[in-house]
Amino acid sequence: MTDNKTASTEADSGAPEGNAQEGLVGMPPQDAPYRVLITGAAGMLGSQVLMAVPDAVEALGTDMREAHGVDHLGVDLTDSEQVAQLFQDLAPLHGVIHCAAYTAVDKAEEEPELAQAVNGNACGVLAHEAAKAGIPLVIVSTDFVFDGTATEPYQPDDEPSPVSVYGRTKLDGETQAREAHPDGVRIVRTQWLYGPRGGHFPGTMQKLAAERDQLMVVSDQVGSPTSTLELAPALWDVLMLGEAGVYHAACEGEASWFDLAVATIEASDLSDTQIDPCTTDEFPRPAPRPKYSVLDCSKLSELRGKSLLPWKDALLTYLGSD
Ligand SMILES: NC(=O)c1ccc[n+]([C@@H]2O[C@H](COP(=O)([O-])OP(=O)(O)OC[C@H]3O[C@@H](n4cnc5c(N)ncnc54)[C@H](OP(=O)(O)O)[C@@H]3O)[C@@H](O)[C@H]2O)c1
Repeated sequence: MTDNKTASTEADSGAPEGNAQEGLVGMPPQDAPYRVLITGAAGMLGSQVLMAVPDAVEALGTDMREAHGVDHLGVDLTDSEQVAQLFQDLAPLHGVIHCAAYTAVDKAEEEPELAQAVNGNACGVLAHEAAKAGIPLVIVSTDFVFDGTATEPYQPDDEPSPVSVYGRTKLDGETQAREAHPDGVRIVRTQWLYGPRGGHFPGTMQKLAAERDQLMVVSDQVGSPTSTLELAPALWDVLMLGEAGVYHAACEGEASWFDLAVATIEASDLSDTQIDPCTTDEFPRPAPRPKYSVLDCSKLSELRGKSLLPWKDALLTYLGSD
C-alpha cells in the first residue's frame, strides 16, 4: 500500500399509519400535524432527510451530536429507557426515519459490541416503541448485508450473507426491527452515499487530487454511488406511501470506485491529477467489502413512479456541474 492509494469506505460517508390512541394503523386526524422523528439528524443522510421534509410535516431531529435540526440532543438509541422517554416526550408521533448508525466499517471489526449495540439492538428498541405507538418506522440499511458474489443486481428478497462486522450488525438490526414491529417496519437498503454534509468518497477524492499528482483507486468493487439529495426524498416516500418490507434505494447504473473517482475529478476541474486503477488485494482493508453490490431498485421505482437519477447525473448535480 502506498500513500497514493485510496479506496472505498462506507462512512468515509402515503399515508401515515396512525396513532396509538386509536390502536390502529391509519391516518391521523386531518387537522393533526404529521410529526416524524429523524434519528441521526446530524449525520450525512439524516441532515439531508431533514432538509427534504415534505410540506405539512413536522420533522423532529435527534442525534448525539449538536447540529442544525437536532432538537433532541444526546439521546442514546441503544438505551431503551431513553428511547421510551423520547417517544413519550414527542407523542403523538406519526412516523420515524432511522438514519443513526455506527458507520465506521473498518473500526467495527475492532468494536463489534458497540457496532452491534448501535446497528443491531437500537433498531429493536426503536421498533418496539414504534409498534407501541402504532406508527411506521423506516430503517436505513446497507448493501453490506450481501457478500458481493452475485453477478446481477441484488433483489430485496435475496438471501443476505454479510462478510463484515458492520454488515452483520446492520442485518441484525433489520431482523430485530422486523421481529418487533412486523407490520410497520420498512427496511431501505442503500449504498455508496455522499452528500452535502459529512465525510465521503467524492469529497476525499477532491481533497487528495488537490494535494497529489497521482492517485490509485480500487477498480474491482462495483456498486452504485448514491447522492443523499436523491435518497432523502425517497425515504420520505417510503414512509408516507410504502408498506412493510424491504426496499432497495440507489442511484441508477453501476460504477467502480475508480469510475467514481475519475468522474469526480473531471467534474471538479482537477484533471491534472492522474488516477490509476488498482485491485482490492493491492489495498487491503480491515473489513472485507462486497465485490459486487448493485441493488435492484425496481420495487422502489414502482412505488414512486420514478427511479433515482443515474449516478453520474446525480454526482454532477451534487458537484454543481450539471
Ligand atoms: N455512508 C454510506 O456510504 C452508507 C451506505 C449504505 C448505508 N448507509 C446507512 O445509512 C445510514 C446513514 O448513514 P450516514 O453515513 O449518514 O451516517 P453518519 O453520517 O455516520 O451519521 C450517523 C449518526 O448516528 C449517530 N449515532 C451513532 N450512534 C448513536 C447512538 N447510540 N445514539 C444516537 N445516535 C447515534 C452518529 O453520531 P456520532 O457521529 O456522534 O457517532 C451520527 O451523527 C446508516 O444507517 C448507514 O448504515 C450508509
